[in-house]
Amino acid sequence: MKVTIVGAGAVGASCAQYIAVKNFASEVVIVDIKENYAEGKAMDLMQTSSLMGFDTKITGSTNDYSKTANSDIAVVTSGIPRKPGMTREELIGINAGIVKSVTENLIKHSPNVILIIVSNPMDTMAYLAHKTTGLPKNRIIGMGGALDSARFKYRLAEALGCPTSDVDGMVIGGHSDKGMIPLSSFAVRNSLPVSTFLSKERIQQVVEDTKVGGATLTKMLGTSAWYAPGSAVSELVKAIALDSKKMFPCSALLEGEYGLNDISIGVPCILGKNGIEKIVELELTEAEKTKLHESAAAVKKTNGLLD
Ligand code: 2OP
Repeated sequence: MKVTIVGAGAVGASCAQYIAVKNFASEVVIVDIKENYAEGKAMDLMQTSSLMGFDTKITGSTNDYSKTANSDIAVVTSGIPRKPGMTREELIGINAGIVKSVTENLIKHSPNVILIIVSNPMDTMAYLAHKTTGLPKNRIIGMGGALDSARFKYRLAEALGCPTSDVDGMVIGGHSDKGMIPLSSFAVRNSLPVSTFLSKERIQQVVEDTKVGGATLTKMLGTSAWYAPGSAVSELVKAIALDSKKMFPCSALLEGEYGLNDISIGVPCILGKNGIEKIVELELTEAEKTKLHESAAAVKKTNGLLD
C-alpha cells in the first residue's frame, strides 16, 4: 500500500506520522515544493521508526511526482492555512490553483489513485478535483466531517464529563464555520441519546463550540490546527487501505442523494478499497434537511468563485 501526501506542512507531516505509526502502509511519500523540506520531514519521521516500532518506509520529494508513481492513495494538504479571523473560503484564491496542479500531477503518475482532499475550502477543492481529474466519483474524498465529528465528540464528552470513547456523534454538511451540521439528534452516550443527560441549551452550546472548533484553535495557535486534521485523514486512509467498510462523514460528489446534485459536501460514507463504497442517506428531520440545503447553497456559492 503506497500513500502519497502532498504538502509537508504541519497537517501533511502529522498525517504521515499517524499513518506510519498505525503501520498499515508499506510506503509513504511526502511531496513539497520547498527544497529538501519533505525529505527532511521524512528523514526525521524515519528516525522514529525504531522508537515507535513501525516498518513503513517514508521518503520525501521536492516536487518530483515521479516518486509518487503508482500510489494507491494520495492526500492533498498543500496550500495555505487560514490565519486568525479568516474563513476557510477566503483561501480559495491561492489554494485552487495549487490543488488543480497537484491533482493533475498526481493522476499523471498514478491513474488509479484514490484522492483525499484536505486543502481548504475543502468542499470546493474536492469539487475542483472532480472537475480537474474526471476520476470516478468514488475515488475523490474530501476530509472535513471526520475531523468535525472528532471535535463534536470531544465537546460532547466534555459536557457529559465522560471519556470520548463513551460518545458517538456525526457532523455533516459543509466543512465551514457556519455550514457544518453536528447531528445532535443522533448523538449518543453508550447508545443512549445525549438528551438523556444534557439540557437542550447545553447541547446547543456543544453544537456551536463544534462549529467553530477550527477557528477556536486558529485563534489560539495563530494558524490552522494540525494534529486532529492529520489524525482524521490517517483514519480515512486506513479504512481504504484495509477495506474496512467503516463509515465516516466525507465530502462526496452528490448526484441526487439528499436531494442535492453537482456538489461535493459532507455526508455519511462507507469507505473501503474502492474509496467511497456507498453514500448513506440518513432520515433527517425537516430542520436538518433545511440546514443541509442551506449549507449546500453556501458551498455552491464558493464553487462559483472557481475559474
Ligand atoms: C480545520 O478545521 C484545517 O479545516 C481544518 O482545522
